[in-house]
Amino acid sequence: MIDAVRAQLQKVILGKEAVLDRLLVALLADAHVLMEDVPGVGKTTLAKALARTFAGEFKRLQFTPDLLPTDVVGSSVYDPRDGSFTFKPGPVFANVLLADEINRASPRTQSSLLEAMSERQASIEGITRPLPRPFLVLATQNPIELHGTYPLPEAQLDRFGMRVELGYPAREHEIAMLYAQADHHPLDDVRPVLDEKALLSLQAAVRAVRVERRVGAYVVDLVEATRAHPTIKMGASPRASATLFRCAQARAYLDGRAYVVPEDVKGIAVEVLAHRLMLDPKARYSGLRKEDLVREILGVVAVPV
Ligand SMILES: Nc1ncnc2c1ncn2[C@@H]1O[C@H](COP(=O)(O)OP(=O)(O)O)[C@@H](O)[C@H]1O
Ligand SMILES: [Mg+2]
Repeated sequence: MIDAVRAQLQKVILGKEAVLDRLLVALLADAHVLMEDVPGVGKTTLAKALARTFAGEFKRLQFTPDLLPTDVVGSSVYDPRDGSFTFKPGPVFANVLLADEINRASPRTQSSLLEAMSERQASIEGITRPLPRPFLVLATQNPIELHGTYPLPEAQLDRFGMRVELGYPAREHEIAMLYAQADHHPLDDVRPVLDEKALLSLQAAVRAVRVERRVGAYVVDLVEATRAHPTIKMGASPRASATLFRCAQARAYLDGRAYVVPEDVKGIAVEVLAHRLMLDPKARYSGLRKEDLVREILGVVAVPV
């Protein structure tokens, strides 16, 4: 089933196998994904393609500066005929929500989504409503240096299980893309291959993947190393270690194993950890990248044998 999802995505996004694999890990690990990169590298297209492989309810929400929290979570609508109020759910009440260009909305609107992401429920006018299951947010954003954006605060970035970049395609893939789109866009060919029940049972199978104690300890060694690192002002949280653990299970599952090896943890650590770190200002201005710090930590922390 997962191979079917991958095959659908490969029709649309060429030459990005590693990114597709990470997206599948996130799907199986029940982790929200932030796709961040320059415009035009296929972020929206990839998110749409993933949503279309899924037969459950899909909503897309374009974030703009004038978007309000109620546009995300919903609100009560007054019915003048009988004077009653009925709740009109916002797009957050979906199985897959594409939150496109999330950093263009105001911090208040962003936070209405982020609360839903971590609590998996939405509080509207004093009433708390659970979100459907599965619930997956695929958010995209352009690099925060671009004009007219409100950067997501680090505390809120922590709600994203994973942050991925797409990057430019290799030359031969870019040429192939031109011909693949000649007649119609390949996105139109994506078919649903997975429904809610199937995804929930895959996620349950992932949670059953065995993780030996020494590998669990390795996860915590890595997270602790981010907290102790001299140029990192705020390291990764326990939420981060739980996500890394789960994503390693998903990676093992994708690889057809019933147990996690340290390589599963290493293979996903940059995507799970880097975006949550807060660098100290000196490091930030010197252009140090968080991803490189995680790679440095991966090179230093002893791998269990
Ligand atoms: N690696 C790729 N393979 C196939 N198509 C791509 C690739 N990168 C970009 N594209 C195409 O470029 C166009 C712009 O993509 P889009 O998803 O709108 O970009 P973004 O949301 O990152 O600004 C789409 O038609 C998409 O299919
Ligand atoms: Mg886009």
